[in-house]
Amino acid sequence: MTKLKDMFVPWLATAREYNYSILDHAWGHPENARLMLNENPLPPSEKVVQAVADAVRKGNRYPDSYLRLRTKIAAKYDMGPENIELCNGSSEIIDSMMRLFLKPGDEIIMSNPTFGLYPPRAELCGAKVVQVPVMKDTMQYDVEKMLASVNEKTKLILIISPNNPTGVFIDDADLERFCELGIPLCVDEAYLDYCPDYKTKAYLIKKYPHVFLASTFSKAFGFAGIRFGFMLGTEEMAQAFKAMLLPWNVGLMAAAAAEAILDNPEEVQAKVAHNNKWMKIFTKELKELGLHPYPANGNYMLVDAAITGKTTAQILTAALEKNIYLKRIGEIHGNNCYFRVTPGLDEENERFIEFIHEYFGK
Ligand SMILES: Cc1ncc(COP(=O)(O)O)c(C=O)c1O
Repeated sequence: MTKLKDMFVPWLATAREYNYSILDHAWGHPENARLMLNENPLPPSEKVVQAVADAVRKGNRYPDSYLRLRTKIAAKYDMGPENIELCNGSSEIIDSMMRLFLKPGDEIIMSNPTFGLYPPRAELCGAKVVQVPVMKDTMQYDVEKMLASVNEKTKLILIISPNNPTGVFIDDADLERFCELGIPLCVDEAYLDYCPDYKTKAYLIKKYPHVFLASTFSKAFGFAGIRFGFMLGTEEMAQAFKAMLLPWNVGLMAAAAAEAILDNPEEVQAKVAHNNKWMKIFTKELKELGLHPYPANGNYMLVDAAITGKTTAQILTAALEKNIYLKRIGEIHGNNCYFRVTPGLDEENERFIEFIHEYFGK
């Protein structure tokens, strides 16, 4: 009889895995500082908790399409409810966009490094992931090489801005060059809420109907475990995503939480202020020790520790001995000396600073 593994689609065996087993470790060890996953360290406010508690009482009913909530979010982008689809965290948009645009043999272009969920979700559609290394010194997108990688098989392009894990924004003029290709383009703005001075790229949707945005409440809004996100696009694009997403993908509790935090912008402002304060402190402390934190715009920074002679693996092991999780970053341009860190609670951040002084200090 045919073996079960031979019954699966062939790309199941070859697709990369998005490994999040660290979370099993982290939930089992609450004493460890979770500085590795770009989470928000601050828990939801009482207003959010109350909204969720009220919603759960209606949990026997199927949700509707959340017209009021969609209208509220879309209005922030000068768009209407027909331009937005809600999702159970923007990972759902990542998955849907692959199924929407990629057939086996098609190609998607993205940077290397990138957010680790993107390659596997494309590969699980049988598509080929073309990853173009970022520029060596600036960690900026290598726009020329990415454009040169476009061919007739390219059916989707991904730009995360600010990028993860590099923390840099793409220049507007460069982004427009991708738009001009006329190929479906996802602009992922997961971390934009940390940067009140930067404008969303939603305006591109009106000019380029093949452009869409992915966004999430997992970061500045602190909803990683509540799960809530959305996509923005033309009405036609939103309808296509609606077809790909499951009905009732967003539960009543997540939607109620989203509406409560939208009605209480001070909560997000306080979370952003906490993060941005510690991002500055981390940058200063790391620089003083001779390390190289790249200029970063989200809730994480990429750090080059080459000067210390330590490898990524050594640094992560030493940090864990001090009850700190850091993010493993694979080789970039053959160098194995990077890690990524996200500010946590005050005490955890102080622990991180103590660790880097002890470990990297002379
Ligand atoms: C760039 C980027 N996009 C999307 C996500 C997914 O977030 P979520 O599914 O929690 O909304 C992440 C998570 O880290 C990310 O870094």
